[in-house]
Amino acid sequence: MLILVTGGAGYIGSHAVVELMLAGYDVVVLDNLSNSHGETLQNIGRIVGQEVVFTHGDVRDESLLTALFEQYSFDAVMHFAGLKAVGESVSQPLRYYENNVAGSLTLLRVMDKFNVRQFVFSSSATVYGNPAVVPVPESSPISTTNPYGASKAMVEGILRDLSHSDPEWRIAILRYFNPVGAHPSGLIGEHANGVPNNLMPYIAQVAAGQREYLSVFGSDYATVDGTGVRDYIHVVDLVIGHLRALEFIGQSKGILTCNLGTGQGYSVLQMLKAFELATGHKVPYRLVDRRPGDVDSYYADPAYAEEVLGWRAERSIVQMCQDSWRWQQVLIH
Ligand code: NAD
Ligand code: UD1
Repeated sequence: MLILVTGGAGYIGSHAVVELMLAGYDVVVLDNLSNSHGETLQNIGRIVGQEVVFTHGDVRDESLLTALFEQYSFDAVMHFAGLKAVGESVSQPLRYYENNVAGSLTLLRVMDKFNVRQFVFSSSATVYGNPAVVPVPESSPISTTNPYGASKAMVEGILRDLSHSDPEWRIAILRYFNPVGAHPSGLIGEHANGVPNNLMPYIAQVAAGQREYLSVFGSDYATVDGTGVRDYIHVVDLVIGHLRALEFIGQSKGILTCNLGTGQGYSVLQMLKAFELATGHKVPYRLVDRRPGDVDSYYADPAYAEEVLGWRAERSIVQMCQDSWRWQQVLIH
C-alpha cells in the first residue's frame, strides 16, 4: 500500500513514517519544511534502513498535488501538515486558517479527483475546550477558544459533511492529547523553535541547564497538588494508533472519530519529579500565576480507541522522560 504522508518531516509525521515503513508500507512524504529539517528524512532512512521518498512542497499548491497524484497511485493519505502554535494562531488567524483549513480542502479536492478516499486526520483534544467531564469521551461537545482549535474543528466538520455526502470515503479523525517523547534511537524528535510553550521540552531544557528554572503555571487548581493535569502520550504510541486507524478504515467505510491518549492524567509537578527520577537531573522550578486560557485538568477516555482499534498506549511516563532527555542531548550537540 502506498501512503502519502503530508507533514512527514515534522515531529509526529516523522515518527509515523518510521512506523509505516517498518510495517511494510510504501510512503511518499510531502512537506514544505516550514517547521522541520530535511535532515530528519535522512535520519528516518537510517532508522528504517531505506531511503525516504520526499517531495518538497505545500499542501495548498493544487498543481503540485495534482502532479504528485498523477505520478503515484496513492491508496491513502495521512495528513499531518499544518501549523500548531496556539498563541501564534491568535495573532495570525488568517495564516492558520489558510494552512490548516484551506490546505486540507485543497488536499481533499485533489484526493477526490483521483478517487483516493482514505484519509487519516491529525485533530486535537483542544477541540473539547474546557471539558465538562474527565476523562473526556469523544461525545464531549466541541468548543474552541482560539483559531488553532477552530481550524481543527472546521476540518472535522468538513470531513463529516464529506463522509455524509459520499459514503465511499473512509476517514479517521484522531484527537491527540499531549504528545511527548521521541524515537528511542535518538535520531528523530521535536524541533521546538525558540522558547518552548509546551511543558516537556521546557523541562528538558531546564534539566540541560539551558534555562534556569521551570515556571509552573498555577498551583491553585482543583487537582492532586494544585498544578495542571494533562494526558501525556508517547509519540511512538500515538503513531501506532494511526496505523491501527489506517487498518480500520481499510476495512470499513464511513467516518471514525477517536481520542488518542493514555487515559492517565499527570500534574505538572508529577511530570517534573518523573523527569528528575528518570534522568537523574534536577529541574528547579517556581510556582507562578496561571497561564491565561489553561484548563485545570483533562485526560482522555481511551475506551473507544481500544474497542474499535484494539489499540492502547503502552509506553510509560519513565520512557517518555528518558526518550525526551536523550533527544534533548542530541539537540544540544
Ligand atoms: P510539526 O510542526 O512538527 O509538523 C508539521 C509539519 O508540517 C512540519 O514538518 C511542517 O514543515 C509541515 N507543514 C506545515 N504547513 C505545511 C503546508 N502548508 N504544506 C506542507 N507542509 C506543511 O507539528 P507536529 O507536532 O508534528 O503536528 C502534526 C499535526 O498534528 C499538526 O496538524 C498538528 O496540528 C497536530 N497536533 C499536534 C499536537 C502536538 O502537540 N504536537 C497535538 C495535537 C494535534
Ligand atoms: C497546549 C495547547 C494545545 C495543544 C497541546 C499539545 C495551549 C492553550 N494549548 O496545551 O492546543 O494541543 O499544548 O501540544 O497552548 N506548563 C507549565 N509551565 C510551562 C509550560 C506548561 O506549568 O512552562 C503547564 C501548563 O500550564 C499545563 C501543562 O504544563 O498545565 C501542559 O502544558 P502544555 O504542554 O503547554 O500543553 P497544554 O496546555 O495541554
